[in-house]
Order: sequence, then C-alpha cells, then structure tokens
Amino acid sequence: MPSCSRLRYLESHPRTASVSWRDGEPVGTLVLLHAFPLGARMWESQHSLADHGWRVVMPQFRGFDCAKSDGADAASVEDYAGDVSDLLDTLTVESAVILGLSMGGYVAFELYRRAPHLFRALVLADTRPDADNPEARANRARMIDVAATSGTAAIADEMVPRLLGESTRRTNPALEDRVRAMILSNQPSAIQAALRSMMTRPDSVILLASIDIPTLVIVGEEDTLTPPAMSVSMANAIPNAELVRVPLAGHLANLEQPQVFNRALLSFLARL
Ligand code: MLT
Repeated sequence: MPSCSRLRYLESHPRTASVSWRDGEPVGTLVLLHAFPLGARMWESQHSLADHGWRVVMPQFRGFDCAKSDGADAASVEDYAGDVSDLLDTLTVESAVILGLSMGGYVAFELYRRAPHLFRALVLADTRPDADNPEARANRARMIDVAATSGTAAIADEMVPRLLGESTRRTNPALEDRVRAMILSNQPSAIQAALRSMMTRPDSVILLASIDIPTLVIVGEEDTLTPPAMSVSMANAIPNAELVRVPLAGHLANLEQPQVFNRALLSFLARL
C-alpha cells in the first residue's frame, strides 16, 4: 500500500492536498485536479498510481471538503490555479504531469496559460475548453441560489445523476452513494464559489493549438456533461494529443472504470 498524507499549506488562507507516495525517489509528480462539486477524495482509485513510482498530489480547491467555510473565498479559476502553483512551490516541484477532470481541466488550462513551464505533460479528462455560454451562466446562477436556499443536498440530488453514466447508475449503486457522500462533505459556500469561478472562466479554445507538450485526452463513452464528441474535437485541436474513450463510464470515468482509466494513464506516463 502506498503511504498517503494530508498536507496543509499556506498559513494565511489554509489549503489542503492529499499526497500519495512510495518510499524512494519518485519517477515524477502527478497532480490530479478534481471535478465539481467533489473534492480530492474522488481520486481514491488513483492512489495506487504511487505503486508505479509516481508521487500523486491531489489538491483540494479552496473550501472543498472543509468542515466550515474555511477559505472558500475563490471566485475564479485564476485563484484555483494560483493555489496549485503555490502548492507545487511548497513541494519544490519544478514540473509535473497535470491532470484535470472537468472543472479540474478548466484550472489546468488556466495554469498552462500562466505557467507552461510547470507542465511535463497534460491530461484532460471529461472536460471542455470553451467558456460558458449565456444559458450555462444562467444555470450556474440558478444553482448558486439552490445552494443558498436548499444546501448541498439539493446540489447532490441534481448532480449525481448527471455525473455518473447510465451503466454505472444501473449496476453500481454503491458508487452512487459514495459520490453523493463526497458532495455532501462540501459546504454550500465552497460550491457557490466554484460555480462563480466556472461561470467566469475564460475561453481556452484559442489555447489548444499552442499546447506543445505530450497530452492525453480521456473521456467516458457515456459522459453527457462533456460528451465524447467534444473530446474528439479538443484532441484534434491539440498538436499530437492522444485520445482514449472509456467504455461504460460517464463523466467520472476515473471512479466508474478505474482500471481502464488507470491503465490508459499509466500507458501514457510510461511513454513520457
Ligand atoms: C465538473 O464535473 O467539474 C462540472 O460538471 C463542470 C461543469 O459544470 O462545467
């Protein structure tokens, strides 16, 4: 079993990250950026990547998985990306493979925009490069109200069926319960901050052609939030990107089909 610890960094505005590693010099650092409205616990099936020599760093975005609204003051993907950069600084990591799933992908794009030197490689999982359109922004505003008036449970009711693929919902109720529990560990303030950050995120379509590092795009075949066709066009727009489609998985491909997801990731990492 790899060792795992929870790291606190930045004294002034507490931030946390989980770090999983094996004894000895790591072959590299792998940073996993979580989706909305979850937290670093969504990477429970990826801790084992440490068995392959990687130091696996799983930051929590501000306020996520906190008992109180500790530091849920971010209102932009720039804030989240700045926190990831501070974390890498704290860990004295000069460059890492950075993987973002959905909202985590939005943050990875922002981090690439401001600090491409931090990237040894990029993995974009179940995400999209474009900014919100007016309809999506209106829906975020509605969800901010829902979080305020009905709390995290109402957000979980809405999101769980959209996050998981049809096959998972039919065959794996235990995972549905786990995802729901992960969402419920978040305060409405953290969820509202994330919604604000996503609704104001910049467009990253223009960035794609300039990504000149090894890039892997992964998508669940049953992802309805960021459907496979989006990943196909994103991968086509990034020079030399590879694309892997994960059968029987929805938006949370890493949790729904962890073995297929990890195999694709390890195969990519082995070729760096
Ligand atoms: C996520 O999984 O992070 C969200 O579905 C992303 C989004 O709502 O745009």
